[in-house]
Amino acid sequence: MNQTDLLPGGLYDYPAYYELVFGSDWRAELHFLLAIFERYAEGRVQRLLEPACGTGRLLFRLAQRKFHVTGFDLNPQAVAYCNQRFARHGLRPAAFCADMADFHLSRPVDAAFNMINSFRHLTAARQAADHLRCMAQAVRRGGLYVLGLHLTPTARPPMDEESWSARRGHLLINTRLYTVRRDWKSRQEHFMMECDIYTPTKRHRIREPMVFRMYTLRQFRQLLRQGGLWQEVAVFDFTYDWRHPITPGPDTEDAVFVLKRCDPSSDR
Ligand SMILES: C[S@@+](CC[C@H](N)C(=O)[O-])C[C@H]1O[C@@H](n2cnc3c(N)ncnc32)[C@H](O)[C@@H]1O
Repeated sequence: MNQTDLLPGGLYDYPAYYELVFGSDWRAELHFLLAIFERYAEGRVQRLLEPACGTGRLLFRLAQRKFHVTGFDLNPQAVAYCNQRFARHGLRPAAFCADMADFHLSRPVDAAFNMINSFRHLTAARQAADHLRCMAQAVRRGGLYVLGLHLTPTARPPMDEESWSARRGHLLINTRLYTVRRDWKSRQEHFMMECDIYTPTKRHRIREPMVFRMYTLRQFRQLLRQGGLWQEVAVFDFTYDWRHPITPGPDTEDAVFVLKRCDPSSDR
């Protein structure tokens, strides 16, 4: 085996690798979302938005099911990858480049989703609040925002590491995301994302520091209350079993919040 070459950038800059590692994980989330829209949204759900859509692994499957989908992401490579897949399947390009904390849609959607921690990329309190405000402008009243994130449990130590492995033909990717340190005061969790990419003749590595904002359950609910634009209607865990909502508590880590777009004047 040759020496390992360090590739520039992070995993999000290599959408084909991202897709190999995470792209096959869509069925449970898709069926969960369909059931949640059916059960909790007021009115028909036809128009969907995914902020931080990445490669569009979920958007694409929803478009195949005749939903009208739109997504955006900060990373132009991810957006191009998403749109190329749509074009290959004869679908209208669905993604554009934008920032979760500062965007505007010309026409509101019925529901939105953001499933795997992307929200925590917004490391400042102001960005998180701006995101929920932009989302409230993008989703119609009675519509939903399904938001999945890892909370910081307070009754037990938080998880420190996650790893994934995926293979296609002769390409193998091992990915490890681990906590380097937590700054409880600034609420920033510093990670290292490492991906080892193997082909029969080459070995590459991607190594990228990442920062996520930390939320205890109380801090997350406080954020929701501050804006007054979203009402929590149910919470699930990452098993995506829509029949079994959970009651989150101080030991909850995996949480998928079903938020309903409410009228701020009616619930104060
Ligand atoms: C974990 S990936 C999730 C991608 C996709 N939602 C999925 O479920 O596969 C996180 C995504 O967030 C995007 N991202 C990070 N910060 C962002 C921001 N401020 N605005 C928009 N996208 C952002 C990254 O480029 C990346 O594609």
